[in-house]
Amino acid sequence: MANARIGIIGTGIMGTDHALILEAGVAGAELAGVQDANRDRAEALARQTGARVFADPQSLISDPGIDAVMVCSPDATHHPLALAAIGAGKPVLVEKPLASTLKEARDVIDAEIKHGRRLVQVGFMRRFDPGYRAMKAELAGGRLGQALFLHCIHRNAVAPDYVTSDLVIASSAGHEFDIARFLLDDEIVSASVTSPRASRLAPGRQPQFIVLETARGVVVDIEVFVDCGYGYDVRGELVCEKGTISLNPSPPTSLRHAGHDGHETPPDWRDRFRHAYRAQMEAWIASLSGKPNDGASAWDGYRAIRVTEACLEAWRSGDRIAVPVEDRPGFYL
Ligand SMILES: NC(=O)c1ccc[n+]([C@@H]2O[C@H](COP(=O)([O-])OP(=O)(O)OC[C@H]3O[C@@H](n4cnc5c(N)ncnc54)[C@H](O)[C@@H]3O)[C@@H](O)[C@H]2O)c1
Repeated sequence: MANARIGIIGTGIMGTDHALILEAGVAGAELAGVQDANRDRAEALARQTGARVFADPQSLISDPGIDAVMVCSPDATHHPLALAAIGAGKPVLVEKPLASTLKEARDVIDAEIKHGRRLVQVGFMRRFDPGYRAMKAELAGGRLGQALFLHCIHRNAVAPDYVTSDLVIASSAGHEFDIARFLLDDEIVSASVTSPRASRLAPGRQPQFIVLETARGVVVDIEVFVDCGYGYDVRGELVCEKGTISLNPSPPTSLRHAGHDGHETPPDWRDRFRHAYRAQMEAWIASLSGKPNDGASAWDGYRAIRVTEACLEAWRSGDRIAVPVEDRPGFYL
């Protein structure tokens, strides 16, 4: 079968990284087109990869030489571009978040259901991280008994100045909401948020401490601190009735030298989750020819935004906020 011809919209950090994964070789796919609002950026990537440059997103989406689309442009563009891809009947991998509001996410679900075939995957790549997958498999295996707590830590070394306390929840914590639902195979039913004072090194925003409860009675706590200074640090520990399972630090080695015992911390998410990004791409490409794929659906993207909105309300009000749980449409079962 011919390779799927992939078009990438948005050739910044994520779009370029995804393009380079395709360029390095993914069975069944080739990079065919790129587009960016900053044309120079798209052209630079095209020179590196041989992809065609498109003038605007719609011309890439509707081109007969493009079979499937990746949306890697800023969050506000995800909703219209996902709808455009559905309108063209083309599979689309949308970087997280699926949309900027719950209403927009609902539009995407409605359009996909109306189209009648699953076309949307959301780029929650942690689902493909070997550590999280091992935690999920261990829980499913039953040896540890039922889950009681999931402890999560999400730290970035630095964040840009425009990141507000709201965005610490709305942008950074989304991965945690999705991975909690994925690991526990459960829905989040309530959210509370409390914050320490701001770090004096980043006075413009507060770190966040989020507590979620799931329908089956698991408590999930999440520290989100985007100014920790020392590196990118994502941790997770699942505490069950008969034991616990945790993510290990990402490097495969640790170093003892000159009075120091430890391991390097990656500078950012790209290094920490490089296996996950590749595995996500391979699974998405395989799904284009019908292979089942447990990547995040539009429904999962929608639920992550539901939790995000509840957390924002909890943070502003100081209250514990219920997260409505709707029946999952049969289309997404
Ligand atoms: N899955 C993950 O781990 C992860 C990590 C970081 C970012 N993201 C998401 O990926 C997306 C891109 O983030 P990034 O860090 O690569 O940002 P970026 O700013 O590096 O790149 C975005 C690119 O989109 C281009 N652009 C802006 N408006 C556009 C439009 N209307 N049409 C086409 N191109 C447009 C910009 O010129 C820029 O080159 C964001 O939605 C972000 O939330 C996901």
